[in-house]
Amino acid sequence: MNMSQRVQEEFAQRYGAGARFYASPGRINLIGEHTDYNLGFVLPAAVDKAIYLAVAPTGADRSRLYSIDFDQELQFDLTGGEKPQEQWACYIYGVVQEMMKRGARPGNFDCVLGGDVPLGAGMSSSAALESVVGYAVNDLFGLGFDRADLAKIGQMTEHNYIGVRCGIMDQFASLFGRCGQVIRLDCRSLEYEMTPFDPQGYRLVLIDSMVKHSLASSEYNVRRAQCEAGVAAVARHAAGVESLRDVTREMLDTYRSEMDELTYRRCAYVIDENRRLLDGCELLKHGDYKGFGEKMFGSHEGLSKEYNVSCRELDFIAGIARSTDGVIGARMMGGGFGGCVINLVEESVHDSYLDEVKGRFEREFGLTPRTIDVVIGDGARRLDA
Ligand code: GLA
Repeated sequence: MNMSQRVQEEFAQRYGAGARFYASPGRINLIGEHTDYNLGFVLPAAVDKAIYLAVAPTGADRSRLYSIDFDQELQFDLTGGEKPQEQWACYIYGVVQEMMKRGARPGNFDCVLGGDVPLGAGMSSSAALESVVGYAVNDLFGLGFDRADLAKIGQMTEHNYIGVRCGIMDQFASLFGRCGQVIRLDCRSLEYEMTPFDPQGYRLVLIDSMVKHSLASSEYNVRRAQCEAGVAAVARHAAGVESLRDVTREMLDTYRSEMDELTYRRCAYVIDENRRLLDGCELLKHGDYKGFGEKMFGSHEGLSKEYNVSCRELDFIAGIARSTDGVIGARMMGGGFGGCVINLVEESVHDSYLDEVKGRFEREFGLTPRTIDVVIGDGARRLDA
């Protein structure tokens, strides 16, 4: 039985009939990392792995939440009570609170959730959770939020209830994803363009470094603060500068002496990454996947050397990718400090490349990396309607 069926059955056994049933996926990101909270560009897509939720409103003054993954049931008042202790429940609580801050009046509900998005692999299982809860509660209680509102509600849940000052990429991808397409999102205006991603003869595959990352305890927020410090240094001299989106390499170089070296390097990386993404999208328009893959390698280099969010395991995998014929692009993906490398691989070398990485990784680190073939899928949706 797959996870979506298990969620439905579990609900029926615990809470009876009458549930609605929803899914919202994890995501990949082709290029444009740590650019979203700097109001730049990203190029994510939703995947075919999701968090599933069965849910029904209850007249009671408390909600009952059951997580299959944690095999745990919690009961509390989502609309008025205290923040729960368990982190998985904080996501749900946070989404409901953020909706209420915006004037909505959702009620309590019973729900069962479970997912097949690999945890800690940098595929945004947490955004998938926020998005499925947001999408479902909005639909269930007729709250009238649109998908962009729900993405912001998910993002603010991370900020205010989890402690990660993330950008909007993950939630946006989970809500707006479409089968076979990547989303070129402008994180300043939230304008987006769907582009088919269909490299004939190539496949996307993730290789997990097996280093679990928790952004809440990582230097993620430190990076964000460093970028803000760079913006502040430039803004003292240049009118109208509000984010790194408004800063060119020339401007950054002009005011380099106003910031410490680390701040400079962080900001330079972000500006370069936006450029790489825009150039990469042009290449994609012309079907130049090899050219695009080169940009992915460039992105990894910057993330590892300038932004310093990679780790030894990720660099090890990316290094093998770089020197393997037929692997035309690879880079660490997501927030970093662990998680996985996304690879664009010629079909004919797919199996031999993965064997090679597994063998060498085992000898170096003593464990086998998990590999995940990616299928680009649809965003948040109701499954039973
Ligand atoms: C995490 C965050 C995103 C984004 C990426 C890095 O996934 O949730 O908002 O900042 O890291 O690109």
